Amino acid sequence: MIKLDMNEFKMLRDFIELHCGIHLDETKTYLIETRLTTLLAEQGCTTYSDFYFKAKNDPTNTLREKIIDAMTTNETLWFRDATPFNAFQKHFLPHFGKEIASGKKSRIRIWSAASSTGQEIYSIAMLILEYCRLQTTLRPEHFELLATDISPTVLFLAKAGRYDTHVISRGLPDEMKKKYFKSDGKIWVIDDCVKKMVTFKKLNLQEDFSFVGKMDLIFCRNVLIYFSEELKKDLLHRFGNLLRPGGYLLVGSAESISNYSSEYSLHTFEKAMYYQIK
Ligand SMILES: C[S@@+](CC[C@H](N)C(=O)[O-])C[C@H]1O[C@@H](n2cnc3c(N)ncnc32)[C@H](O)[C@@H]1O
Repeated sequence: MIKLDMNEFKMLRDFIELHCGIHLDETKTYLIETRLTTLLAEQGCTTYSDFYFKAKNDPTNTLREKIIDAMTTNETLWFRDATPFNAFQKHFLPHFGKEIASGKKSRIRIWSAASSTGQEIYSIAMLILEYCRLQTTLRPEHFELLATDISPTVLFLAKAGRYDTHVISRGLPDEMKKKYFKSDGKIWVIDDCVKKMVTFKKLNLQEDFSFVGKMDLIFCRNVLIYFSEELKKDLLHRFGNLLRPGGYLLVGSAESISNYSSEYSLHTFEKAMYYQIK
């Protein structure tokens, strides 16, 4: 494997942070080496300096997109960590149901802000469909679900809604699988009734996202950990501007925002923690 020297590490680290916000400290040289080695060979580069300048001077930004794809961690699964989805089902949905029934709101807008291959937003959509079967005051049309990610590759997979046997088995209860997926034995395809509830878009969280409009609930899980303190603070502030009064923010179970923002209050529901804009 071709090794990175410190100068090359700094150039690539800054390039990566500039374009996707992922912050790498000096203990992460191995991460760049392991994640970019295939791309380096594919580009015919013999040093990381050549590779960096090729990416920097590529007018099409194709190599830059490939670098972002390689450097982002897209790990996700159905109903990841369970407790936020339990809170969604038992706490948020009844609350939203009351808001709709009382006429306080006509639409509930939910955003999965680092959606990866779609398991998070599709888990939310399936819970909404289940809830609407029981509560006739709520209908799927009352919800607008947006899912965004910086990586075109994961968005392509999410939009296709096609998952192999290994991926489908990670966290998805059998009854949900039977109800909402069709399979040819190898690939599981999500039902249109779930798919049509979600709009997927490419979005870099570093950039202005006010155009997505006001939200009732933001899932921003397992991505803040990759960002610098400064970006976390800025992002949390911009999420706050987007949340409707009393709107909710859910972050990953290993993430806490208390050091980065005082604009939210922390709450618990059973074992789930969630934030609410003050
Ligand atoms: C570990 S996955 C989390 C997926 C899902 N939220 C979950 O918790 O299972 C992190 C995702 O964040 C995306 N990501 C990384 N940097 C981003 C940025 N600057 N803007 C938008 N998405 C980003 C990655 O492409 C990746 O799909």
